Amino acid sequence: MAKQLHIETVGCQMNVLDSELVAASLVRAGYQLVDNPRKADVILFNTCSVRQHAEDKIYSALGRLKHLKDHHPERIIGVIGCMAQKDQGLIFRRAPHVDLVVSPGQLGRVPEVLERVAAGAGPQMEVSLDRTWAVRLSVERSFLPLDPSQRAPTRPARHQALVRIMFGCNKFCTYCIVPSVRGPEQSRPVDEIEAEVRQLADQGCLEIPLLGQTVNSYKHRAGERTYRLSDLLDRLNDIEGPRRLKFVTNYPRHMTRDLIEAVRDLPKVSPYLHVPAQSGSDRILKRMKRGYTAGAYREMLAQIRQTVPDAAITSDFIVGFCGETEEDFQQTVDLVRDGRFKNSFIFKYSTRPGTKSAEKYADDVPYDVKRRRNNGLLAIQNAISLEDSQSFVGRTVEILVEGPSKTSLKRAETGPAVQLAGRTVCDRIVVCEGDRGLIGRVISVEIYQATAFTLFGRFQ
Ligand code: 5AD
Ligand code: SF4
Repeated sequence: MAKQLHIETVGCQMNVLDSELVAASLVRAGYQLVDNPRKADVILFNTCSVRQHAEDKIYSALGRLKHLKDHHPERIIGVIGCMAQKDQGLIFRRAPHVDLVVSPGQLGRVPEVLERVAAGAGPQMEVSLDRTWAVRLSVERSFLPLDPSQRAPTRPARHQALVRIMFGCNKFCTYCIVPSVRGPEQSRPVDEIEAEVRQLADQGCLEIPLLGQTVNSYKHRAGERTYRLSDLLDRLNDIEGPRRLKFVTNYPRHMTRDLIEAVRDLPKVSPYLHVPAQSGSDRILKRMKRGYTAGAYREMLAQIRQTVPDAAITSDFIVGFCGETEEDFQQTVDLVRDGRFKNSFIFKYSTRPGTKSAEKYADDVPYDVKRRRNNGLLAIQNAISLEDSQSFVGRTVEILVEGPSKTSLKRAETGPAVQLAGRTVCDRIVVCEGDRGLIGRVISVEIYQATAFTLFGRFQ
């Protein structure tokens, strides 16, 4: 019987894609995917290290897996992803029942590592070189991309597929662990991306989010020509089949005019822009080493609004960064009020060992203050999101139907008529009653009610 594989994924869309590609490589090697970890011969945990809280949750989840190993000692448990690069051998010490640790830049090795473990070679670890020690070229080579071809058998949604256009990050914002766990920034060749998108188009894929840690710094040299993200979008826009192209996450300083105009001019590019501001205080932005001022960020917003008036703009903010005063925080509040973001993700600063801010600054904002600032900012943003959502009531929007809604799944609806969930071109979530046959189609829906994060509509 084929070996059963279960993959648990936490964290961002990069991890979702990595899990999909690891699963595809193992399915090719003869494994079968299962939802239930109890039925699995191999359990892989794809992990995140962006905040302490995420790591704590992963270590306790790993602890809970121990009894599954006690019952079946031959079962293989692996930790892959960002925490594997950050904690390396520490993982074996904290969770001795773990058999393998493989970092994001080494995921292509998972099948062979699994074979070694199964053959009785004992705990195995494959991680990339440390960026601070090794020379650039060998570091780059140690962060190897996963092969995205032949991924079809395990793609979770037929009509949507994530496509990575670049790896890693070179920004080294002082709070962020990503540059050390995901390695140096490397853009994929245009031709390779185009071929992947064509393949997905042939498979009936309608929506393609292009992924990169700083996606809009994409740059690829081919002969005489240098391709920017706007040039890549121009190429992909011509491919028949896909209806929507998106790109996440943007770095404010690279939100250049050519890119904003590409969003305006290319019909398939969604007017949806996630551009994290992180703070509204120049003093804090400088400490974060973000490379722009709040004023420059505001100018960028104004340029987007002027060029693409109906764009949905979203942001990330960190509250309670080292040395953040009440006045600094008020400047962030002002930016959220003025920015009119569709929504914002708000995080409490979490110090990450190995980052510049952990080394240089005291994590001196008390937890209670971080929490108060987080809740305060969230309340302001939520009120804006609600107003924004309510402006849709009475309007008809196009949605790509993704599947049964969460409510439908909770109710365990089984008939053909279910509550469906989909998204507008601007990434707004819409639910409506309809037939399962509509899943994967683009339909028109009239909105009759709205909460901050969901629009309720009638299928026309
Ligand atoms: N603490 C809190 N939030 C963080 N982020 C990144 N690093 C940290 C950290 N150390 C947030 C940023 C980023 C998002 C993905 O996570 O806002 O945009
Ligand atoms: Fe982290 Fe800054 Fe790179 Fe984003 S741009 S991944 S916040 S270092």
